[in-house]
Amino acid sequence: MSDAERSMAVLPGGSNGEFNLPPEQTMVIQRGEGCTLWDTNGLRYLDFSMGWGSALVGHARPEVTEAVLRQAPLGANFSYVNENMLALAEELVRLSPALERVRFCASGTEATMYCQRLARAATGRTTILKFEGAYHGANEIGVTSLFPDALHDFPQPEPSSAGIEAMVSEHVLIAPFNDLETTRGILQAHAGEVAAVIIEPLHRCVPARDGFLAGVQAAAREAGALLIFDEVVTGFRLAYGGAQEYYGVVPDLVAYGKALGGGYPIGAFGGRADVMDLVTESRMNEERYVWTASTLGGNPISTAAALAALEVFRQEGTYTYLHELGHYFRNELRCALDDHGVTAQVIGDGPLAQVIFAPHDIIDYRTAHAADRARGRRLMLALFARGIFLNPMGTKLYLSLAHTEETCDEFRTCFEQALKDIERE
Ligand SMILES: Cc1ncc(COP(=O)(O)O)c(C=O)c1O
Repeated sequence: MSDAERSMAVLPGGSNGEFNLPPEQTMVIQRGEGCTLWDTNGLRYLDFSMGWGSALVGHARPEVTEAVLRQAPLGANFSYVNENMLALAEELVRLSPALERVRFCASGTEATMYCQRLARAATGRTTILKFEGAYHGANEIGVTSLFPDALHDFPQPEPSSAGIEAMVSEHVLIAPFNDLETTRGILQAHAGEVAAVIIEPLHRCVPARDGFLAGVQAAAREAGALLIFDEVVTGFRLAYGGAQEYYGVVPDLVAYGKALGGGYPIGAFGGRADVMDLVTESRMNEERYVWTASTLGGNPISTAAALAALEVFRQEGTYTYLHELGHYFRNELRCALDDHGVTAQVIGDGPLAQVIFAPHDIIDYRTAHAADRARGRRLMLALFARGIFLNPMGTKLYLSLAHTEETCDEFRTCFEQALKDIERE
């Protein structure tokens, strides 16, 4: 039995979530270094997924590996405050304008879930407003209206996954990203009900229009709702201080994950002290007490990796490099599409890019949904066949500190071949 067959036999779809490759393309990764992966058949791939963005420092970045190796003999988990966790908490409070207090968990899914729960407890309300197509992790609200095919009138939600309690949908309002008027209207119509607005400041790969984030914040405030920034993707990627610093909007609560851990499992959530302190265990019998707990949250291995990753991010020139590289990459993709006479949009910000086959601007879920998504998937699979490792759901292409202009050029060569491959199909 091949490794791919073994994988198909015990893992649903031969995958561990979000997407599975066609059986003939299913592979098993053996190792990674920088932005290169090797599968168990010895095939080499250039990685444009980078652990869905978690390995922004690059795979097996020596500083991160050394920090982990220093900690490993000293214990892997105590489920209690440890030296590394404390140092990391102090650094997060220093770097994030929104954070007065922080707690750790093991994933972005948990971090956004706790932010939602805290907002509900703090406001005494139950409804959360999210933007159509946004992903906030695999928690129930995170996947609501994630990829609806039925485009309901706003603010009606759609579960996007079986097994979600019907009551969840009853307490979720859906708004269109980049449409401040409609968002404000929904908040006004539900005044007194909305606990929080949760937003990916870079909506999947779609940048916010000028003033949109600040406008959402003002509208949330008017409605007495808290603003939650899901910085699981944007954190440490757009700027050291994340989207808060990059876009200049300071939310009430923030969720972190991915790049923070340097590739190791981590999540963190924090914000205003008065809200965060609702989790204090001595308040357990109070009406607004909020339960949080994570066996592996803040473990000394992940936090050692995170401290090392943050040190890398603080090096001079990190964000100039990531932004210039992202700009170069998107530009190369646009030129390649033009050279081949293909109509498509290249979107993104910072070290992120996405190609969408549509003649119109992509400003939200519906403009992306109206694109030729089947062609998008064919392109992703053709790239995969040419040695580019990526998420064939066609969401984002992630660059990292290990990528260079040469890696982007190599991508462009494969991209042009893949464009021809799908034309021939
Ligand atoms: C914006 C955003 N929030 C939350 C999550 C969930 O993070 P995790 O997969 O670590 O649970 C993701 C994961 O892709 C994400 O993109």
